[in-house]
Amino acid sequence: ISCKFEFTNTVCKSFDKEFADFRYCYLKSVNRSYKYMSFRLDLYKPPITKIKFNLIIFKRVNGYRPFMYNITVDGCRWLGSIDSNPFMAFLYGIFKGYTNMNHTCPYDHDMWIEKLPISVINHHLTKVLPVPEGDYLLEYYFRANDVDLGLIKVKGTVS
Ligand SMILES: *[C@@H]1O[C@H](CO)[C@@H](O)[C@H](O)[C@H]1NC(C)=O
Ligand SMILES: *[C@@H]1O[C@H](CO)[C@@H](O)[C@H](O)[C@H]1NC(C)=O
Ligand SMILES: *[C@@H]1O[C@H](CO)[C@@H](O)[C@H](O)[C@H]1NC(C)=O
Repeated sequence: ISCKFEFTNTVCKSFDKEFADFRYCYLKSVNRSYKYMSFRLDLYKPPITKIKFNLIIFKRVNGYRPFMYNITVDGCRWLGSIDSNPFMAFLYGIFKGYTNMNHTCPYDHDMWIEKLPISVINHHLTKVLPVPEGDYLLEYYFRANDVDLGLIKVKGTVS
């Protein structure tokens, strides 16, 4: 199986800018082989003691349709036992070396994923869990301390 992942777009949106806002959120192509994604969420009302997120993965088939996953997770509980959900453990495995969100609650600091290389994502999508070809959209809605806080959307293509 030869398989390649390309990011096509990423969007980060804060729903409550007095609570938290994205300082940056971007994809960068340094050259043909080195591309990465970074974002940083500044936190204005720490600490976060409750996190809930909803992750939906869509696949494009005449428009984007929900595909495989639409899951809601109690983030603080999950961070205490990451391997309890194999798919979430797979996703965490992709970015755990590139983030400061690698511990359980509370969070009293800005949160970031920094320079997550596309090659790492490729490795996971080809060697760890081969994914069928297609255009995908991942939507990650998150709530903290019972406030709807934001959305991260990532589009990509597996070919
Ligand atoms: C791409 O950029 C990285 C980081 O600057 C560098 O290490 C690598 O050699 C470059 N690759 C090519 C093909 O130019
Ligand atoms: C995902 O699941 C949630 C909770 O069950 C539901 O409210 C939402 O409409 C679903 N989203 C999609 C795109 O299916
Ligand atoms: C969590 O991430 C920070 C920042 O990258 C790092 O300094 C720390 O060693 C990591 N902790 C664990 C348990 O991996």
